[in-house]
Amino acid sequence: MRHESHRIEKAVYNNILEAKQSVYREKWERLSVIHQILKDRGYPANEPTIAWSKQIYDAFEVLETDFIQRNSKLAPQFNPNAAKQFVEFLREKRSVRIWAEEQPAQCILEAIAYSMIDAARWAPTSGNRQPWRFVILSNLEDKELLKKVKENHCTSAPLLIFVGMDTRLYGAFGKSERSIYIDAGAAIMQMILLAHKCGPGVCWNHFADDLINSRNINKTIYSQFTKKLNIPEYIAPIAIVAIGYPSFIPPEPARMEIESLVIDSGKHKTLCL
Ligand SMILES: Cc1cc2nc3c(=O)[nH]c(=O)nc-3n(C[C@H](O)[C@H](O)[C@H](O)COP(=O)(O)O)c2cc1C
Repeated sequence: MRHESHRIEKAVYNNILEAKQSVYREKWERLSVIHQILKDRGYPANEPTIAWSKQIYDAFEVLETDFIQRNSKLAPQFNPNAAKQFVEFLREKRSVRIWAEEQPAQCILEAIAYSMIDAARWAPTSGNRQPWRFVILSNLEDKELLKKVKENHCTSAPLLIFVGMDTRLYGAFGKSERSIYIDAGAAIMQMILLAHKCGPGVCWNHFADDLINSRNINKTIYSQFTKKLNIPEYIAPIAIVAIGYPSFIPPEPARMEIESLVIDSGKHKTLCL
């Protein structure tokens, strides 16, 4: 539903709705079927993505003349100073692997975790799928379960967030879609930047199926983990984000130069700023 609604909305700004009316009318008709299915399955009509999709459905005949104009804004001017400051902010973000003895109350860490999930849900996703699923792990027993799979700096963190992706939203028609990992990465980065902005340290810890399937013990532990935490089998594991107050901020690992990252096509122009 989110993908189809997004495609219709995008067709308006891409100015192709008119030229491909029949294609989009078909999607529009499909939306009505999807809305009915969701209603029959008990999904509430005021769930924000269902309500948004319904708005697009209802406004289909006037999307080009009314809906987009009502909902769009003009882009601000490029601000080179803001760009510089933002890069500085990014540069100061370190992966933290040493946690301070004294940590804030669990409820504060959990509030940070919720804010991180709030940041994650504003990440872009391919086709606006919004496939992320999270589990907040605060009790010792749950964290201990992961000990044989992940390093101590991860499992000893004051709070962990398991990040998984709903595979049912990908791979229609047997396609293998890489975007599942890209979508996950974009959301995880937003979580990390939120934590960086608010103070605590974080570390992104790999927890995808390649790691889980690499050893029988990992598979066994993952199966116990998903059973204990009610993680359905259609959720693909991606990462464990560790959160806590660092005992110190680690040194900055060097980064490559911009010049060596940009492939020189021979058309390089001098930048005007
Ligand atoms: C996809 C991905 C997986 C990562 N997995 C781990 C991990 O399993 N363990 C770990 O200690 N760090 C992990 N990291 C953190 C990187 O090692 C770290 O970002 C990199 O060394 C640069 O350091 P910085 O984040 O301090 O700039 C991961 C980062 C990414 C993007």
